[in-house]
Amino acid sequence: MKTLITEDPVPLGQLIREGGLVVFPTETVFGIGADSTQASACAKIYEIKKRPKDNPLIAHFRHWSAIEEYCEIPKIAKQLFQKFSPGPLALVLPTKEKPIFTCGLPSLAVRIPNHAGALSLLEAAKVPISAPSANLSGRPSLTRIEDVIREFDGKVEGILLGEIPEIGIESTVLDLTSEHPVLLRPGMLSVERIENYLKTEGIVSKINQIEGTSLQPLSPGMKYRHYAPDAQVILLPKDAFLEFQSKGETNDLFLGFHISSPKKGDVLLENNNDYMKKLYSTLVDADLLGKKRVICEMPKPDEYAKAILNRITKAIARS
Ligand code: TXA
Ligand code: MG
Repeated sequence: MKTLITEDPVPLGQLIREGGLVVFPTETVFGIGADSTQASACAKIYEIKKRPKDNPLIAHFRHWSAIEEYCEIPKIAKQLFQKFSPGPLALVLPTKEKPIFTCGLPSLAVRIPNHAGALSLLEAAKVPISAPSANLSGRPSLTRIEDVIREFDGKVEGILLGEIPEIGIESTVLDLTSEHPVLLRPGMLSVERIENYLKTEGIVSKINQIEGTSLQPLSPGMKYRHYAPDAQVILLPKDAFLEFQSKGETNDLFLGFHISSPKKGDVLLENNNDYMKKLYSTLVDADLLGKKRVICEMPKPDEYAKAILNRITKAIARS
């Protein structure tokens, strides 16, 4: 297949409308998108990613007024959209009658990306775009254009060039289909920040966080292998992290805040924002460099730590 690689959203929007797949950058990670109103186009995403068929997709919109055509918008959702959208927040909402791809569920995850290229593609396509992260299912998400071109050139109809993802990990996913909001996936936008805002609006003070505690996965995505490179991923506190370095294994790649003499592939971090931004590309590089292990230092204990730990522990679990 010939892949159209361009920064012009207009022909790519046309390809989406014709039922094609387009990989595009967002502020979180790259997504692989199809017209949400064409189930057959969305089905192609599952094939190409080898994604389990029961794992639903996030539909991306330009504005929440368009979301209202497809979903019930509870008051809390409206408040959250007004405050945090466009941005790295996906809300799971009950659907209305109007047909859209929901993977057979009575709910839909929706998100308005805060990225000029993604928004211009949505504008050109004139339809909502269903897009999971652009990676093979179970592998690290992609945050660099060279990785996207290596993985997807020749496999999709188009690739949108533009500013690469600023954040580096996927959006926070919040389920608003039951009485109390439930966090399905932590992201850069922390629960604390959302709760604090809601408190000032006098709406709700507690968001349920069931990740890792529920026997019944509420989000289909919770039960699958995620983000894992071929290399083994190990997470260590600072002292053990430094001790591993002193042993000097050549097949280890180090990612952290304390690297005494960085070797090829090692990534020295400044803060947790840097951690989010570089985590996936480091996992990708570990495999490209043929490293056997990626040794990660514990993130700093701030509001971003939860999301970083979520991704690293899933990459470790590999199940
Ligand atoms: O940052 C992001 O959200 C990126 C960019 C491309 O927007 N997209 C992304 O999509 O990470 P994906 O498919 O890799 O992750 C979506 C997650 C999955 O864990 C899925 O199970 C969950 O959201 N999800 C989607 N729809 C859902 C629904 N109706 N109910 C519960 N969980 C849902
Ligand atoms: Mg994903």
